[in-house]
Amino acid sequence: MKSFFVGAVVMASLSFSVNSVAADMPAAVKTYNCLGCHSVAKKVVGPGWKDVANKYKGDAGARDKLIEKMMKGGKGAWGPMPMPASPKMSKEESAQLVDFILAL
Ligand code: HEC
Repeated sequence: MKSFFVGAVVMASLSFSVNSVAADMPAAVKTYNCLGCHSVAKKVVGPGWKDVANKYKGDAGARDKLIEKMMKGGKGAWGPMPMPASPKMSKEESAQLVDFILAL
């Protein structure tokens, strides 16, 4: 009984921290299923978003380039695996995503 209780508390606090991260993300993260291939902290299929932010720190042209790439897809920056295009994504959504990621 006691271990059940401890387990329930751990589960509750874990789901709380996951939700609070998700709540800070732009809605488009969910719409386009970005987290199927990415996480903030580590590489999944694509690079971790903190690594992306570090890579482009101080690169003034990166924001525009990434906004384009988010909509059109592309490969070669991190490896041979391509990121698929999101043809339905608006430029506003793409800019929100890029600003969110570069600020990590
Ligand atoms: C099917 C898997 C997949 C999905 C879905 C996906 N990505 Fe990616 N993403 C990748 C891969 C693979 C790369 C590495 C591409 C490369 O090496 O240029 C990447 C690269 C990136 C980069 C770095 C681009 C660069 O040129 O440095 C960003 C930022 C990014 N993704 C954000 C997102 C966002 C935001 C979404 C949701 C709209 C998303 N990704 C959806 C697989 C995915």
